[in-house]
Amino acid sequence: MQGLRYGGGRHAARGRAGPGRREQGARRGGARLPDRPARGRCRPVRRPQRCRGPDRPGRRRSDARTGGPRHAGARTGPRVRYAHQTPAYEAAVARLRLRPGGRAVDLGCGTGRAMPALRAQVGACGHVLGVDVTPAMLAAAARHGRTRHGHLVAADCTRLPLPGGSVQGIFSAGLLDHLPDPSAALREWARVTAADGVLLLFHPSGRAERAARHGRSPGPDDLLAEGNLRRALETTGWDLEEYEDAAGHFLARAVPRG
Ligand SMILES: C[S@@+](CC[C@H](N)C(=O)[O-])C[C@H]1O[C@@H](n2cnc3c(N)ncnc32)[C@H](O)[C@@H]1O
Repeated sequence: MQGLRYGGGRHAARGRAGPGRREQGARRGGARLPDRPARGRCRPVRRPQRCRGPDRPGRRRSDARTGGPRHAGARTGPRVRYAHQTPAYEAAVARLRLRPGGRAVDLGCGTGRAMPALRAQVGACGHVLGVDVTPAMLAAAARHGRTRHGHLVAADCTRLPLPGGSVQGIFSAGLLDHLPDPSAALREWARVTAADGVLLLFHPSGRAERAARHGRSPGPDDLLAEGNLRRALETTGWDLEEYEDAAGHFLARAVPRG
């Protein structure tokens, strides 16, 4: 992010198992990030090779679920397990409605699935950060080539190495209700968000679908139930503006309290 220095707290970059120096983007304690993604240093993602196997000579064999190559010998890039959810992530990121040049952060970015859409929204003059506390996830994000779309930062989302009011858009998918102290996280996210900024919480499944996968229905204490979430947001510096809990997605859009 131009003109910003991410204050290198001890959460800023830790773990020897994190992305290596060649997997650019995960910053190391207190170092100033380059203003633009390190394009030339990314590993190229190669196309699946044609299968020369005996059954269908010359035909490309792919896994119907992933669209990727089916057998290990032919696999050339990282496995994209949830590629079918990419349009849902793109649609969710569009709901941030960020202007070109904005600063966007994907909190709990995992493999960085939202980062290409965030980059598309803020444009080449904008800034995108993928933040995750798990070095292995950042390494996976780097393998997926996300450093072409932004920087990867190792940090705890409740202690962000970012100045107050420095971010226009926070995107976070599948994180908030897994945190031990969601209110602390929301308060921290409000701290780093500019007065005209926005928070977008997303999940590629609705609450009922998620609960059903664990053999239950959403309980009254569910943080993401509309009333609970509204209260949690209001007590931490946010106003809930949009709320959707449907088959196929969960989405909540909030803005800083005026
Ligand atoms: C369910 S995954 C979602 C990944 C990604 N947002 C997506 O939708 O594909 C949750 C991610 O949050 C990260 N995470 C968990 N606690 C965190 C914390 N306190 N700060 C930052 N990231 C955290 C995990 O390492 C994991 O990558």
